[in-house]
Amino acid sequence: MPLAIPRLIGHRGAKASAPENTLPAIEEAHRQGATWIEFDAKLTKDGVPILMHDETLDRTTSGKGDVAAHTLAEIRALDAGAWFGPAFAGTKVPTLEEAMALMASLGMGFNIEIKPCPGREAETARAACALVDELWPKSLPTPVVSSFKRAALAAAQKDFAHLPRGYLAEELTGDWLGEAKALGCATIHPGWKRLTEAQVRAAKVAGHPVLVWTVNEAPRARELLAWGVDALITDKPGEIGAAITR
Ligand code: G3P
Ligand code: MG
Repeated sequence: MPLAIPRLIGHRGAKASAPENTLPAIEEAHRQGATWIEFDAKLTKDGVPILMHDETLDRTTSGKGDVAAHTLAEIRALDAGAWFGPAFAGTKVPTLEEAMALMASLGMGFNIEIKPCPGREAETARAACALVDELWPKSLPTPVVSSFKRAALAAAQKDFAHLPRGYLAEELTGDWLGEAKALGCATIHPGWKRLTEAQVRAAKVAGHPVLVWTVNEAPRARELLAWGVDALITDKPGEIGAAITR
C-alpha cells in the first residue's frame, strides 16, 4: 500500500490511558478511534525486538536493570502493567511480532520507532525491519520506521530501503532537510516545542509529510494542523481526535 498517514497517531499506544507500549495500550488506542499508533522497539539480550521505551526495565516493569542484559524469557516473566494501575496487572512486555499480529487483526497501521540500546543501533534496525518486512501484511497500511539514531536509519536504508523511514528529532537544527534526504527519509518527525511554521513549510515543499509529537493539548493540535502538519502523535487519541474534528 502507498504511504497513507492519518491525522492522529496514538503515542506508545494510548499512553495516557493504558501502560505504554503494551497490547492493552494498542487496544485502547483503537478503542479511542486511532487508526495508527507509534511505539518504541528495542532488542532483548538474545536479540528479539520488543516494545519498550527506556534502556532499563525499572520504570515500566516489575524488573530492574538494563533491557539489553535480559533475555526474552526473563523479560516475559515481568509485569508491565501493574505500575500503571491494578486493572493492568499481569500485562506482559509484548514482542514486536505479537504487537504486529494485534494491529493487523484490528486493521491498524503503525510508526515503529527504533529505540536502540547504546551500541545496538544497526542491529536493532535490521532485526525490527526484517520482522516488519516478513510479517506485516502488504494489504495493510505501509508502516513508517523512524529513529533519533542516524545509524539506525542508515542501516534500515541500506538493507530495507523499501520501508519508508522517518527522520525523528527533538528539534530541527542545522541541515536537517539535507540529512533527512541523505538518509532517504520519507517523513519528518519533530517535537512540537521548538518547531516553526517555516520548518513545516520547508518540509512540505520538499515533499515530506510532517508527524509531530507529543501533542496532548487541543489548541496546540489545531495550531499545528493549521500550519500544515500531517499527523499529531498523541498520548490522548480520543480527546485530541474529538478536538480536531469539532
Ligand atoms: O516517535 C515520537 C516520540 O515517541 C519520540 O520520543 O521519547 O516518546 O520515544 P519518545
Ligand atoms: Mg517513541
